[in-house]
Amino acid sequence: MNFHIMTLFPDMVEQGLKTSIIGRAEAKGLLSIDAVNIRDYAFNKHQSVDDYPYGGGAGMLMQAEPVFQCYEAVCQKTKASKEGKRPRLVYLSPQGRTFNQEMAEELAKEDELILLCGHYEGIDERVLEEIVTDYVSIGDYVLTGGELAAMVMIDAISRLVPGVLHNDVSAEFESFQDHLLEYPQYSRPETWHGKQVPPILLSGHHANIEKWRREQSIIRTAENRPDLLEKAELTEKEQKFLEE
Ligand code: ADE
Repeated sequence: MNFHIMTLFPDMVEQGLKTSIIGRAEAKGLLSIDAVNIRDYAFNKHQSVDDYPYGGGAGMLMQAEPVFQCYEAVCQKTKASKEGKRPRLVYLSPQGRTFNQEMAEELAKEDELILLCGHYEGIDERVLEEIVTDYVSIGDYVLTGGELAAMVMIDAISRLVPGVLHNDVSAEFESFQDHLLEYPQYSRPETWHGKQVPPILLSGHHANIEKWRREQSIIRTAENRPDLLEKAELTEKEQKFLEE
């Protein structure tokens, strides 16, 4: 999967993603991370890309033309535009749809994705109208720019790309897959700070372990994210267990 990130801070994105699992996946050729500096497409000698908003108001806006020129340059590299199609372009903004696992799964099916990171008070609406296909927010808070949000999305999408995780099963059986949070996990030693590993996990009885894990998932979800339970498919018995 190829990610193209349009940003004023390409180093931040490249440095942030080159370590750990995503970096290894890139080295293996499973992913590519191409951070492009919008400032390289500034059309004045000071290389400025921002200006005051018409109508007044606080702060500065990113101007349409450098963003558009950068987009055109990035498009040249995409398979979609070589095939005469419009590449998918995500604009990271608190005004977008909230990112979730379902969206990550949908986007992981794409061969390539352009991510546009805003700064200052945002970007001239006219260029957004022309190039953006998806408006995405990573949560109800305001960041100083879209870079961290783009990195969050790239991380969540990349780990779904086949081969990126050592064990593809771990991407399947985990939080949100069935709208339940993950159960608690324990590793050696059996006793740590006086706390014992739940005996059922040492029993070797796989059916009972699965049952216990599912109960723990349900309890956790009810405590921390009751909103998710509406979508979780609980059996009648599990519903009763929750109501007790
Ligand atoms: N840019 C600033 N805040 C953001 C957010 N919450 N999500 C995505 N992009 C952003």
